[in-house]
Amino acid sequence: MKLKDLYIEFFLSKGHKQIPSSPVIPENDNTVLFNTAGMQPLTPYLKGVPHPLGLRLVDYQKCVRTNDLDEVGDTTHHTFFEMLGNWSLGDYFKKESITWSFEFLTGVLNIPVEKLAVTVFAGNELVPRDDESAEIWKSLGVREERIAFLGVDDNWWPNMEMFGPCGPDTEIFYFRSTDEVPDKFDPKDERWVEIWNNVFMQYNHDENGFSPLEHQNVDTGMGVERTTAILEGVDDNYLSSIFKDYIALIENKSGKTYEGEYKKSMRIIADHIRAVTIIIGENSGVKPSNTDQGYIVRRLIRRAIRHEKKLGIDIDSSFNSDLVNSIIDDYKRYYPELDANREATLAIIEGEKNKFAKTLDKGLKEFNKVATKVKEKIEGDDAFHLYDTYGFPIELTVELANEQNLIVDTEGFYQKFKAHQELSRKGAENKFKSGLAGTGEIETRYHTATHLLNAALKIVLKDKNIHQMGSNITAERMRFDFNFDRKLTQDEKEELENLVNEWISKDLLVTKEEMNKMDAVESGAEAMFIERYPDVVSVYSIGDVSKEICTGPHVTRTSELHHFKIVKEEASSAGVRRIKAILD
Ligand code: ALA
Repeated sequence: MKLKDLYIEFFLSKGHKQIPSSPVIPENDNTVLFNTAGMQPLTPYLKGVPHPLGLRLVDYQKCVRTNDLDEVGDTTHHTFFEMLGNWSLGDYFKKESITWSFEFLTGVLNIPVEKLAVTVFAGNELVPRDDESAEIWKSLGVREERIAFLGVDDNWWPNMEMFGPCGPDTEIFYFRSTDEVPDKFDPKDERWVEIWNNVFMQYNHDENGFSPLEHQNVDTGMGVERTTAILEGVDDNYLSSIFKDYIALIENKSGKTYEGEYKKSMRIIADHIRAVTIIIGENSGVKPSNTDQGYIVRRLIRRAIRHEKKLGIDIDSSFNSDLVNSIIDDYKRYYPELDANREATLAIIEGEKNKFAKTLDKGLKEFNKVATKVKEKIEGDDAFHLYDTYGFPIELTVELANEQNLIVDTEGFYQKFKAHQELSRKGAENKFKSGLAGTGEIETRYHTATHLLNAALKIVLKDKNIHQMGSNITAERMRFDFNFDRKLTQDEKEELENLVNEWISKDLLVTKEEMNKMDAVESGAEAMFIERYPDVVSVYSIGDVSKEICTGPHVTRTSELHHFKIVKEEASSAGVRRIKAILD
């Protein structure tokens, strides 16, 4: 039986109810691009909303993390991964949680207690040292030498900065090595790897600080990929039963063996194609694009294709489809939507591949020409040319350059980018003879109104994949284009006006924050052209209704907009609607 099945069965026997995995693209939460942990979809219940299935829940959850995308290619990092979790919503606490974790690990998975060690919380100004958990571990047979007390950097989840439910945790480690197990547990010794995290959620963290949650919860998380590898006795996740077949297919199609320099490319292909298969295979309709999740999907596919090429795989062959089919076959039992969306998923991945394949060869030639010419740095102009003409995401150019010990002037790239954007904007302005006349007070108000309209469209039309496709502001009116495939009804237009006016009358605060580009994207900030932004971007938030990467300027309070009125709604081009609105 697979780990996932054993886990669910065990916690069902302890009175838990199984809940299905939520989609990896969050359904009711536009503050993040992807679900990054099992608890994320459960946030309202951890905060006190009663869950229809009761107080004890268990599941496996699809997760995607893109913050360490560059690390993928080693033995343990993945973009997509699954997390097992069991929850107590104000029911059991430390004793049962720790006892059942111990029972599952030693009794069901047959891990000898000698190979286990734990960390517990050392205490801070909010929560005292967690002697209670340490005592429970000891009573189960975990020796004192195998218990380490650590501070908030290690034993607080998620961390002291992030908002939402949180609390101290106890982490369980396994000794992943054939060496003799040292008597004393040293959490810095990398042979000890974390396999399970039990969080004792007691607080909610928001702008006002930490307040006790309505009830004490337990939130646990166990990574499927890592634990499966451990149980199978391999020290590389890609050698476990989860990835074995994909690696074999890659070996077969490339005629190369999983060893030495080929390993990294093979891992990247297996990881990235698995991730995009799962993301695209959901019902949320994400496709490769230049924004949000679509941009991540595009980057993952293009990076995978480039590594396929590197291994000598014929990318015009059925390789990608074969791999996608094999992934869907493995996961369809757990995620039936993958099978239902199989044809669409295959078509989308093939489509993106074909698009990129057309320019990849020429682009690589061009890259090599540039790379042999320069000594240490690829100039921004060249990187831009690779982007503009050959569809090379800047991250891909950086990766190629790094492989040859070269660096890329990304700053120069973005400058060139902005200049290019400016040119096309000017071109468009001349064409329409209107344009952004300047950024006077009135235009600034309209600018903020576009953010509110962008947020309102997602809510009123019940589709969070609606995004700005373009906008144009004059002192007389704003124009806003967005992806949508039909005319809006009179009711919808009124609802949009009402919602925007409600936000205006609430006098919401408009705030600006400088953030690292990918952090901004991860935090759910709306972005038009991710690859076009510099590494550090400005994120404008309007109350908690809107969050967008933008250069501004904006008003400081929404009341400055007075009143919003739609004057026209019409088709702009295929699949794109246009709203003209005024502030009066
Ligand atoms: N939420 C905890 C984690 O993701 C269990 O590690």
